[in-house]
Amino acid sequence: MGKDVIIACDFPSQEATLDFLAKFEKLDRKPFLKIGMELFYGAGQQIVREIKSRGHKIFLDLKLHDIPNTVESAMRVLSSLDVDMTNLHAAGGKKMMEGAIKGLTRSDGTRPLLIAVTQLTSTNQEMMEQELLIHGTVEEVAGHYAKNAASAGLDGVVCSPLESPRVHSLCGAKFLTVTPGVRFAEGDKGDQSRVTTPAKAKELGSNYIVVGRPITKAEDPVAAYLRAVEEFCD
Ligand code: C5P
Repeated sequence: MGKDVIIACDFPSQEATLDFLAKFEKLDRKPFLKIGMELFYGAGQQIVREIKSRGHKIFLDLKLHDIPNTVESAMRVLSSLDVDMTNLHAAGGKKMMEGAIKGLTRSDGTRPLLIAVTQLTSTNQEMMEQELLIHGTVEEVAGHYAKNAASAGLDGVVCSPLESPRVHSLCGAKFLTVTPGVRFAEGDKGDQSRVTTPAKAKELGSNYIVVGRPITKAEDPVAAYLRAVEEFCD
């Protein structure tokens, strides 16, 4: 099972992304990269192909949520882009998640890893109950959605490292936890409220950590990346 550091490439353009990646060219290890909505909508499929051709693994973080047929077709397109991991909202339901797996599966039977978002970290208890009319605690709802994702055949969920132990106990040790909200011990939290270090995420059983600003905004991004790898993977 993979244990890796995924760098969140939250850049507005292909140029900014490739400038950033140039710093890593001399490294033996090719970082696993996350491309999110901003970069994908700005730079399109071209950036995925470009980064793939340089030998990086890609987590395409587009968080799909639509009717099952539409998600299945969209996933077929993403799968043909040869990404390694992608995701959707578990709130779309089991049929949608099953359709997504069908769409992602290539003719040779392989497919990218498929990860579910349970509840966004921007959703709080009050919003869930009063605005969305979803009852139960955020933890209960996130746990329930994770179980739905597991039973639909997905590979894991995006969650906080602090939630990794609960997800693994509910859905099994092989069900992946892909965890943002990671900061170095002395680092700035930015807008993340609950954070852990890479070493703590490893101790809590996270399978992949997603690290953005602590690497992208570091004075020496390569050194910051290698530090995260050393703490989390070794
Ligand atoms: O810069 P930072 O390390 O906070 O970046 C974390 C990345 O993970 C960002 O791309 C952010 O959108 C993403 N993410 C998150 N929290 C979630 C889901 C995704 O921070 N719950």
